[in-house]
Amino acid sequence: MKKITVSAPGKLVLFGEHAVVYGKPCIVTAVGQRMHVSIELLENKEFQLTAPDVKINNYKKPMLEIGLGDIPKEVLFVETAVKNTIKSKKAGLKITTKSEFSSQLGFGSSSAVTVCVIKALSELFNLQLSKKQIFDVAYKTVLGIQKKGSGFDIAAAIFGGTLYFVKAGKKIESLSVGQMPLIIGYSGIKADTVILMNKVKEKFKNNKYSLNKIFNEIEIIVDNAKQALSTKDFLILGKLMNKNQMLLEKLGVSIPKLDTMIVASLQAGAYGAKLSGAGGGDCMIAISSIKNKKAVENAILALDGEIINTQINAEGIRVE
Ligand code: PMV
Repeated sequence: MKKITVSAPGKLVLFGEHAVVYGKPCIVTAVGQRMHVSIELLENKEFQLTAPDVKINNYKKPMLEIGLGDIPKEVLFVETAVKNTIKSKKAGLKITTKSEFSSQLGFGSSSAVTVCVIKALSELFNLQLSKKQIFDVAYKTVLGIQKKGSGFDIAAAIFGGTLYFVKAGKKIESLSVGQMPLIIGYSGIKADTVILMNKVKEKFKNNKYSLNKIFNEIEIIVDNAKQALSTKDFLILGKLMNKNQMLLEKLGVSIPKLDTMIVASLQAGAYGAKLSGAGGGDCMIAISSIKNKKAVENAILALDGEIINTQINAEGIRVE
């Protein structure tokens, strides 16, 4: 039977997390590590999923029950993406996922797997979905599950490169960015994005003025970073990272482990450093001169942080 494999990159947010949920822009880059999804059409009308990275081995249910009943959280994004993409449940689907990055890193594995499933179904059923249409189905899928989120990770997985992004895909602008001396340190702590978004909302429940003030400052940082990226001014980018980090601390989403990794990076000579993503764990990023890169990496390693080597600006979704 017909079979197709699609891959999409993970992501790393450079500037503007959290504010992007409230309509401000952010900058996100696609990373070299990819998610791969193969889908084979089956004659029996069964939905089958094997996703070894999240310990799902041959999960099965009738196609007619897609989206119904108790769905394990590791299956939720794939199953909901199928439900939202194809109306006809005449053929069965055997889906296999394979990730080049751990779902613990915060590289956006749920979004990457969602866009891969939608793209693969579009190819198999000749739906001819455009990138924007894939974005819309994927965003609907993620919102249906998480209830909130900006969709920047979905855009990175689909379009690749480095993007200036506004919530729900209102703006998806490709930035011309070369390689840069970026260091990524994994804290070893898994963060829960939804919990952190709720934490920000709760903290500023009675103080909308302060929240808006912080978000307006983040917006200026993002716009300045867009400019500095185009001129490859790493020193300015570092300063902007530090400012962004201060505001993320005000939002209450940084944690001591990330703080110490960030401070150690700066002491080792980085131009700037900040957390990347929701906070509460996952990764931090730093930018330095080429000369100081090794020292910054060693400073992170000395704190039991893990260095994640990757390329940025990776290619978006593609059929393999
Ligand atoms: O935790 P991550 O890497 O998925 O990043 C979350 C970033 C937020 O701005 C907090 C949420 C979002 O959907 O934009």
